Amino acid sequence: MPAIGFFDSGIGGLTVLREARQLLPKEDYLYYADSDHAPYGTKSREMVLSLFLAATDFLMDHRVKAIVVACNTATSVGIEAARARYNIPVIGMEPAVKPALLAAKDKRVLVFATKLTLQLDKFRNLVDRIDTENRVDYLPLQELVEFAENFEFDDNTILPYLKTQWSNINLNQYGAVVLGCTHFPFFRHQFKKLLPPEVQIIDGNLGTVKNLQARLKENLNKGEGSVRYFRSGRELLFSEIEKALPHSI
Ligand code: DGL
Repeated sequence: MPAIGFFDSGIGGLTVLREARQLLPKEDYLYYADSDHAPYGTKSREMVLSLFLAATDFLMDHRVKAIVVACNTATSVGIEAARARYNIPVIGMEPAVKPALLAAKDKRVLVFATKLTLQLDKFRNLVDRIDTENRVDYLPLQELVEFAENFEFDDNTILPYLKTQWSNINLNQYGAVVLGCTHFPFFRHQFKKLLPPEVQIIDGNLGTVKNLQARLKENLNKGEGSVRYFRSGRELLFSEIEKALPHSI
């Protein structure tokens, strides 16, 4: 039975893969991290589209049965192009604004994502459609992508960075924040340390994986389960990467 392809600009999609392996442990996964070209969130739309399609072509050459675009930025730019190009299910991600609005009750919602995701029509249209009471704010936290790509997860680096980014924001007005970039769940415990305790921290990872499960239906594997990891096309030992990740995600 073929594997499931996972794509991200780097290691962020591993936060989604982790959920996938819990829900679908018998599957084989091919994970493509385009870390040589990360971050995507500071690049042009055209550049991201061409890098993204080169990576998903690579996954198609390995005969995957579905592709999970475990990257909000690449989804915003290229999900339609990928769906038109391949004849297998292509599952994307988008910032979980809707569940966050529900979780926040009557308080506000703050969406964190990459610069590019927040600039693109896909995000603006999503907010226009569902934020009927004007309760959504957003803020890029682009440098978190670079910290993660450098395996820099230490409080001493991350807490001061977040404090600076949030210095002009009254966090008490928020009922929920959205982690709209798959690199951000690596920093969940630092978000928890700095946000008021009643603020809910929402990501779209489980929703995406459930979507994958639904799309595969009877096409599910019954094997041992495995992960192969490719950094911009070169295979690396997945266990080595996993060891360097925070355990708390
Ligand atoms: N992990 C990505 C996302 O979900 C992209 C981060 C980047 O490369 O800027 O948006």
